[in-house]
Amino acid sequence: MSENSGPTTSPASAIFLNTDVPNLARIFDYLAGGSINYEIDRQAATAMLSLIPSLAKWVRLRRAFIQEAASQLHDAGFRQFLDFGSGMPADDHIHAFAPEARVVFSDLNPVAISYGQGLFAGQERVAYIRGDVRQIEQIFAAPEVRRLINRQQPVAIGLNGVILFLNDEDNRRMAQALYDWAPVGSKIFMVFQVRAEREMPAAYEQFRQMCRAAGLPIELYTYSQSVAMMHPWRPANIQPIVDFLALPPDFITPEDETDIGLAFYAAFLEK
Ligand SMILES: C[S@@+](CC[C@H](N)C(=O)[O-])C[C@H]1O[C@@H](n2cnc3c(N)ncnc32)[C@H](O)[C@@H]1O
Repeated sequence: MSENSGPTTSPASAIFLNTDVPNLARIFDYLAGGSINYEIDRQAATAMLSLIPSLAKWVRLRRAFIQEAASQLHDAGFRQFLDFGSGMPADDHIHAFAPEARVVFSDLNPVAISYGQGLFAGQERVAYIRGDVRQIEQIFAAPEVRRLINRQQPVAIGLNGVILFLNDEDNRRMAQALYDWAPVGSKIFMVFQVRAEREMPAAYEQFRQMCRAAGLPIELYTYSQSVAMMHPWRPANIQPIVDFLALPPDFITPEDETDIGLAFYAAFLEK
């Protein structure tokens, strides 16, 4: 694909084709190695990379986690997945790694929704819906969730790259509502993307400003804040993402961690 061209497979909706402003879903698609992005998104991504050069590596690690987690949960017998903040559901997402499962993807980003709905139109077992986790009850009530998710059986719940877009209070409310709704035996699979417990350098604030300009403010939490916000979900297995993915211990370098002490943990929480 040439530098200035757009995606090869895009739905023809106006919102998807709006290339006046960068879109975070398309930026993350670019960072993950996808082709559903435009030059303006690639420019924004490049600016972000100038502040956190390892960003693309982290984004790809998170996708790799989703794939391995979906595959393991599928092997363990989970046949229904509800995913929040799904982003671009290209062929590297849950449905491709849990082939016998029913999957509901959701996001509030109109670009991701438009793309996802085009991709899964007419499919029986996979749906993509609009959903804001700050109003998570509306997601539970969606016809697609009621059709594809059986609340008599455990649900595998994906929550990847989402809690950094919510404040502490909204995260806690979401975790509690999710716990109240989920059948016993359900599991959340998520990456804790944490920063060190110390004062953050100026580059961190610059990075946050860029994300705000692209439409969504972010906040990196520490490890202990992340675990605490997900209460009352019980940590079942939390380990450094390189261990979970069986990567060499030096796969993440001190440069990758940057001044903010960035670290990723593969987390499974259970009810
Ligand atoms: C970093 S991307 C992660 C995409 C995918 N889960 C992954 O890990 O590859 C975060 C996604 O969360 C979505 N998001 C942000 N705030 C949200 C909210 N309040 N409710 C639902 N989705 C949200 C964004 O639109 C974006 O698509």
